[in-house]
Formats: sequence, C-alpha cells, structure tokens
Amino acid sequence: MSDLPAPSAEALAHSERLAGLIRREIRDSGGVLPFSRYMELCLYSPGYGYYSAGAQKFGAAGDFVTAPGISPLFGRCLARTCSGVLEQLEYGDILEFGAGTGVLAATLLAELERLGRLPGRYLILERSGELRSRQQETLSRLASRLLERVDWLDELPEGGFRGVLLANEVLDAMPVERFRWDGNGVERFHVECRGDDFGWRPRETHDPALVTAVRRLAEGTGLLPGYVSEINLLLSPWLQGIAAMLSRGLLLLVDYGYPRHEYYHPQHREGTLMCHYRHRAHENPFLWPGLQDITAHVDFTAVAEAGAAAELDVLGYTTQAWFLLDCGLDSLLQAAGPTDSAAYLRQAREARTLILPGEMGERFKCIGLGRGLVDPVPGFRGQDFRYRL
Ligand SMILES: C[S@@+](CC[C@H](N)C(=O)[O-])C[C@H]1O[C@@H](n2cnc3c(N)ncnc32)[C@H](O)[C@@H]1O
Repeated sequence: MSDLPAPSAEALAHSERLAGLIRREIRDSGGVLPFSRYMELCLYSPGYGYYSAGAQKFGAAGDFVTAPGISPLFGRCLARTCSGVLEQLEYGDILEFGAGTGVLAATLLAELERLGRLPGRYLILERSGELRSRQQETLSRLASRLLERVDWLDELPEGGFRGVLLANEVLDAMPVERFRWDGNGVERFHVECRGDDFGWRPRETHDPALVTAVRRLAEGTGLLPGYVSEINLLLSPWLQGIAAMLSRGLLLLVDYGYPRHEYYHPQHREGTLMCHYRHRAHENPFLWPGLQDITAHVDFTAVAEAGAAAELDVLGYTTQAWFLLDCGLDSLLQAAGPTDSAAYLRQAREARTLILPGEMGERFKCIGLGRGLVDPVPGFRGQDFRYRL
C-alpha cells in the first residue's frame, strides 16, 4: 500500500475512532464479525462511515468519479429513458436511490424540462445524511419551479408508485458476504482483531440463507473447491421492497458487474472486492476504515432472478455504451458541434470515457426491471444482451 497517498492526521484520527467502534463490536460479538457487518460499519456507521461522514469521495479531489460527474451527457441520455417511460405512463414520478452529489438529479430535471416531460415529483432516497446535505446544496441552485418538485424520503413510499426508479452505482455499495466454497460446505469470511489491525477469519457456516445461495451458485457455475467470492444477500429483499411499492414503471440499475457465469468464472477465484482511495484501486478492506470506499461487482443474473421472483419484468440488459447510444448520445454530441468547437471537443472526450470498451462502456451494464410497460424502453432498443444472463 506504499503507493497510496497518506491521509492527514485528522483523517487518521477519524478512522481510528471508527476502528475503535468496530473493535468494540467485534469483542461484544465473541471475537468476530461477518464481513458484511464490517463493510456496513465502514461505509454507513452513523457519523463515521465512509458514506455517512464527511469524506470528499466524489471527483478529482476524492476517491472516484461516477458517470454523472464525468459528463452531463450521461444524465441527458437517461432523461430520454425517463421521458419515454413517463410518456407511456402519461404521468409519473422519479425516485433516485443513492443520489451522490445530486448532479444526476440536477441534469435530469433540466433536461426533462427541455423535453417537456417533467416528472410530478423527483424523490431521493439516500442512506447518508452527509450526502443528503450535499444533494440539497447542489439542487438549491435549480430554478424554484424545478426545486419544488424535489423531495427527500427516509424510506420507500408505501405503494402505488408510478414512474421511474433510478440507481447508478448503488448496488456495488451494498454490504456483501464473502465466502469460500470447499466443494461441499461453505465458509463465511469474518473479520477479527489483530492487535490494532483487522484480519480475515473464515469459519464454516450453517446459515441457511448463505449456504443455500452459495450451493446454488456452486451447482450452477461449477465452482471449484477453494473458490472465494462475494454474494449480495441484501439484493433480493431490496428488490422485493421496490416491487411491493411499484404499480407501473421502470427500475433502471446501472453498475459495474457481470452475468453470473462471468462473475463466478475461475479467473475471478479471489472475488471482486475492491477498495478505492484517491483514485487508486486495491484489495485491502482493512486499510483506514471509513476513509476508503469498499465495493463488490454486481451479479446481474442475480438481479434479473430476484426481479423476476418479485414479479417484475426484465425489460432489458445491455452495456452502458449500447444503452447511451440508443438514447441518442451521438446526436447530443453532434448538437454541440458546429457552433462551439471547444464544447464539442470536451464532450467528445467525456463521451469516449462513458462508452469506450476500455473505459466504462463495457464494464458498466444497465438492467431494466419493471411492471406494466408495453412499449420498448429507450436505452434497451438496440443491443439486447438478456440472453447472457
Ligand atoms: C458509489 S455512490 C453512487 C452515487 C451516485 N448514484 C453517483 O452515481 O454518483 C453509492 C451511493 O449509494 C447510496 N446507497 C447505498 N445503499 C443504498 C440504499 N440501500 N438506498 C439508498 N442509497 C443507498 C450511498 O449512500 C451513496 O450515495
């Protein structure tokens, strides 16, 4: 880890406070914590977690950049998806999960106004109080006729939701279980204290939810003994909750990940756990708790299966590149062309980052789940990769 820039003394003190809290919870739980709980505390512990406290996170001065921060073209394309669905439904709302800095919400509202297809309300459900404040600050710059449509929720609406639900890079930020398949049984990775540090402690588990899920995976993909990976057991209940409140509309999930046969491929036999600190990616989740992001890739087959189990239609699955192109990325780019060549060149550079295969274009996928939609959804009318799931 010697190539990582050292955090400030203040940041290290903050991390040490969170580490102390985790050490206490480990001690109170008999010496170990499941990795999912460790990840939950690192990311979301109130006042201390990476997302819940004041770390910069997004942008050049933070740890990573997401598509809405790379270019407004991303949000302008997604506006075409929202517009298509809202037109089909005649009216509806938008609900964004985990809205980060709020920049996607701002771009979407401005573009939907240009398209003459504003949602009734733009709702945001955000786990982090700190990010909610940042979103409020970003969106306070909107014209009041747009801002008055925006509202923050503490929980999912009761039911009868009609419209579009969006989650960009939210699934990868959900706490996952780490496991090892031994050819017959399952070990769950726990976290233990090693002096002032933390370390792995795999233990045989009989937890029915984890054992059943891993056994199914092992049978379906032919996992070899010793294979280590992650599984998101929170995904299914999360989608069940959404399905229960969705009367008609689309849930669009954008994230990095693979279909199951690629996710649990022998080449990924150490899993997909990844940490981000100051634009460097590494694999040590025990470094500086609370100061770095911890993520796992998304198993899109699991998303499709959990969606179908919740009685949602799988409306489309494709790469981010094909999705944005079907939404008209190239015409948006052309429109910047003749009059302003500096803007054109900047946007062309941003578009390349969003769609080139070696950048985000193929690593990021888009999946659409929904209910009560008959017409094709913009973004999914081009290349349909559902057969890969
Ligand atoms: C990697 S950030 C992505 C932020 C933003 N969507 C973007 O693209 O820049 C992950 C976000 O998801 C939020 N999050 C994680 N789990 C969530 C959940 N179950 N419900 C709502 N937000 C969640 C985090 O607080 C954070 O805002």
